[in-house]
Amino acid sequence: MNLRKESEKRLLVVLLCLILVVAWFKNGSEVKSEVESSEKVEDQKTTESGLESEFRSEQYGLDPVDPANFTVKSRPKIPCMGDCITVQGLLKDWPEAKPKGAYYVLIPSMKRMKFVLRIFRQIRSNLLGLYPVIVLCMTSTCPKSFPRDSANGTDRLFYQRVQQEAPSFLRRPIPRNTSCNKFEQMYHREMNRFQSLRIYDEPILSQFEYLLRLNDVSEIPRPVSFDIFKFTKTHNITYGYRGIEFEKKVCTRGLWEASRDYLLKNDIDPQFFSQWPPRRSFYNNFEISKSSLWLSQEYKALLTYFDRLGGIFYHRWGDGAMRTIAVSMFVPRSQVHHFGNVPYRHGEYLPEVSPGFDKVEGSDYVEDFLDPNLDVE
Ligand SMILES: *[C@@H]1O[C@H](CO)[C@@H](O)[C@H](O)[C@H]1NC(C)=O
Ligand SMILES: *[C@@H]1O[C@H](CO)[C@@H](O)[C@H](O)[C@H]1NC(C)=O
Ligand SMILES: *[C@@H]1O[C@H](CO)[C@@H](O)[C@H](O)[C@H]1NC(C)=O
Ligand SMILES: *[C@@H]1O[C@H](CO)[C@@H](O)[C@H](O)[C@H]1NC(C)=O
Ligand SMILES: *[C@@H]1O[C@H](CO)[C@@H](O)[C@H](O)[C@H]1NC(C)=O
Repeated sequence: MNLRKESEKRLLVVLLCLILVVAWFKNGSEVKSEVESSEKVEDQKTTESGLESEFRSEQYGLDPVDPANFTVKSRPKIPCMGDCITVQGLLKDWPEAKPKGAYYVLIPSMKRMKFVLRIFRQIRSNLLGLYPVIVLCMTSTCPKSFPRDSANGTDRLFYQRVQQEAPSFLRRPIPRNTSCNKFEQMYHREMNRFQSLRIYDEPILSQFEYLLRLNDVSEIPRPVSFDIFKFTKTHNITYGYRGIEFEKKVCTRGLWEASRDYLLKNDIDPQFFSQWPPRRSFYNNFEISKSSLWLSQEYKALLTYFDRLGGIFYHRWGDGAMRTIAVSMFVPRSQVHHFGNVPYRHGEYLPEVSPGFDKVEGSDYVEDFLDPNLDVE
């Protein structure tokens, strides 16, 4: 009898424990699935029902901006001074048949000049056409001018110090670091903002018809057999890129959703935005473009909208993602070209042969996009 009671007791204890464990697990998974489902709601609202859903910027930690009612202020003209005047002179005597093209690099300080000189030497030995190389320096440490020396090549660069301005319209406090990049400094976000909007107002750049953007750690390690600017002009290319990247969700929080809202409220019929998968971006440290795209009213309006939402500072929206959205809205697919045959390297981050770079998995559309639609003659 006693024995039976003992075993019954044990069974009861085991059962109780089991119930507790199950309850605890269930609670955990409920909490987890709550988090997941709220994320899903954010996704669903924007990806599936997309254009029909109401976009509320606060939900994404952004400032409220009416996409159909904000003003794009025209900026006071930036005077052309220093090397800008030299460049102006060059363009006056520019050969008729040669596209008005230039390379440009934006740096945060003169410490980066040694890298600029490296890419400068590579441009001169590996790219055809002798187009000007323009260096823009953006922080308060940048000198107005600097000693030039033919011994190290600094005398053959065109240099311009550019101004940054703090955004005065943001309503939320700007976090020192974002979930996108915890170790990032504020000047990265300032450069991002400058690269996406303000840079094209610089008269040293706006005089050119085509711009090839590089950054200080870019490398063109081997010769290219054709003149990139001539190719771009001959084939009526508006936007040329070297690869496609995947952006982390936290780095583009609300950006694609805000873009859909913008299209809807402004009744814009986009070029290939609707087919393009969110969070894929043209890698833009090698980027060739027709400057008229960036100078257009439609581009300025869209980027001003992004700027007002505050995502550049709150979440570190990158100018790559913002430009990709603009290109997919305004540029016909046939005028976008993948320069897969240009050797390119970006320090350690992007070795020259990088399968993840030219081959983006998970989207047939993007894969198709990478097929060169034009042959180099
Ligand atoms: C269930 O989870 C919530 C949130 O984590 C916690 O506050 C609560 O105490 C848990 N309940 C049980 C019975 O474990
Ligand atoms: C547009 O915005 C201005 C100022 O923010 C406001 O006064 C005006 O009522 C708005 N117009 C519409 C149609 O919402
Ligand atoms: C180039 O030469 C100048 C003058 O000698 C010098 O001040 C400058 O630091 C040099 N720049 C680089 C990047 O080596
Ligand atoms: C954000 O930056 C501050 C100061 O640079 C640093 O102390 C802090 O640890 C950073 N936060 C995170 C989450 O890394
Ligand atoms: C070239 O591109 C422009 C837009 O940049 C377009 O208006 C024009 O029709 C295109 N020309 C040809 C021949 O495709």
